[in-house]
Amino acid sequence: MKKITIAIDGYSSCGKSTMAKDLAREIGYVYVDSGAMYRTVTLYALDNHIIQQDGHIDEERLRQEMKNIEISFQFNPERGRPDTYLNGVRVEDRIRTLEVSNHVSPIAALGFVREEMVRQQQRMGQEGGIIMDGRDIGTTVFPQAELKIFVTASAEIRAQRRYDELTAKGEACDMQEILHNVEERDYIDTHRDISPLRQAPDALVLDNSHMTIEEQKQWLLREYERATL
Ligand code: CDP
Repeated sequence: MKKITIAIDGYSSCGKSTMAKDLAREIGYVYVDSGAMYRTVTLYALDNHIIQQDGHIDEERLRQEMKNIEISFQFNPERGRPDTYLNGVRVEDRIRTLEVSNHVSPIAALGFVREEMVRQQQRMGQEGGIIMDGRDIGTTVFPQAELKIFVTASAEIRAQRRYDELTAKGEACDMQEILHNVEERDYIDTHRDISPLRQAPDALVLDNSHMTIEEQKQWLLREYERATL
């Protein structure tokens, strides 16, 4: 069967990565979490004090240091999805903290960061047979993708999901802080100048506010089957 490209975009914490990785496993495609790449650049910037205490970003330094940031993925059979590596070191857990979430959207709004990430993402997708999730996959990274999904859910439901995820990992967190982070990232992601989060005109919309993980998995599988008929 012909291997297609599947682009999944949507707001923060709406369950894109869960559905993308489940489908990838089911149909034997490669799954790439593009948000993990922006998170990794953010982690590098935090570790190297390119982001200052007050949140100010030393853009010139980051621009110069981009060549020192090597991002890769390695499939982790235990988790059933790829782990993220920064310069050969596994950073999968460190990139998911609220500290990184709090700084990632301004980093992802920088043109030179996006240019580099998009270049790497397009290279990963050259052969097809890929599912990528993010904010600009159906609009900028793979505008020719055969299947595009735009996922949405209410901010409160998304914050609750993120809260459950972080508490399950043992990270102490505050519901109001998470809701604030979700809303703030939504705002920055939809209002930035370069590749803002937008629904591609040919994307299918999925509001999963009241769907279980199993229901959304079945929905996506049906759409994949339809797209490859
Ligand atoms: O998992 P969650 O929905 O919280 O976000 P993510 O997919 O890990 O992405 C983290 C952040 O990276 C987003 O809030 C965006 O600011 C940025 N991002 C982006 O600009 N473009 C993408 N293709 C993916 C993520």
